[in-house]
Amino acid sequence: MLTAYDYTMAKIVDQAGIEVILVGDSASNVMAGHETTIPMTLDNMLYHASCVVRGVDKALVIADLPFMSYQVTAKEALISAGRMMKEAGVHGVKLEGGEAITDTIKRIVDAGIPVMGHLGLTPQSIYKFGTYKVRAREESEAEQLIQDARALEESGVFSIVLEKIPASLARKVTDSVRVPTIGIGAGPDCDGQVLVLHDMLGLNKEFNPRFLRRYADLHSIMHNAIEQYIEDVKNVDFPGKEEQY
Ligand code: KIV
Repeated sequence: MLTAYDYTMAKIVDQAGIEVILVGDSASNVMAGHETTIPMTLDNMLYHASCVVRGVDKALVIADLPFMSYQVTAKEALISAGRMMKEAGVHGVKLEGGEAITDTIKRIVDAGIPVMGHLGLTPQSIYKFGTYKVRAREESEAEQLIQDARALEESGVFSIVLEKIPASLARKVTDSVRVPTIGIGAGPDCDGQVLVLHDMLGLNKEFNPRFLRRYADLHSIMHNAIEQYIEDVKNVDFPGKEEQY
């Protein structure tokens, strides 16, 4: 799984053969420049999700429900999930949280909307935890996480994202549930992996967590291309004879 937030990128990701595209609320960070995912609105997510859906032929497209679009009541959560599926055309939604949101998940799943869970580091709760450090290192938090994963499975999720938890715990969770786990900073024993597209393509030089592998240095490629364009225009080297009518 990889994230995407717009038509052009989604098309490239889909054509490369990725199985699942996540329209993550990390759009708040990488697209909008916010420090957290808290400011992301449902309308913003609907916009990003609909752009992605138009670029995708094959992949399963899942969109995050943003902060405060599903936490207040199960009814409101269902309305948000329904809008995401009906207006943006995604195939399912992702929600952060464990036991506390299982009634909400059941309500959405019962309406025919597939739900992906998200445990471990849950960025929408950043101000509750106060840090983006690895979660569930303590025994009690690890036990609660396994319990949360089982509760999510029971409530009908089709998959669970495990973010930034010890690899040994991710293995235990993966062994404890039948639905596939998808890890980010959760070691190799999850059933799948996810990365934020802009991070793995090297578009963002400032974000350097240990779990991130950069598969390209698009920042340098783009920077050099733009510098070259500026130089060519200033030297009246562009447009050339073949580039005019
Ligand atoms: O918003 C997001 O991109 C995510 C992934 C990091 C799993 O939730």
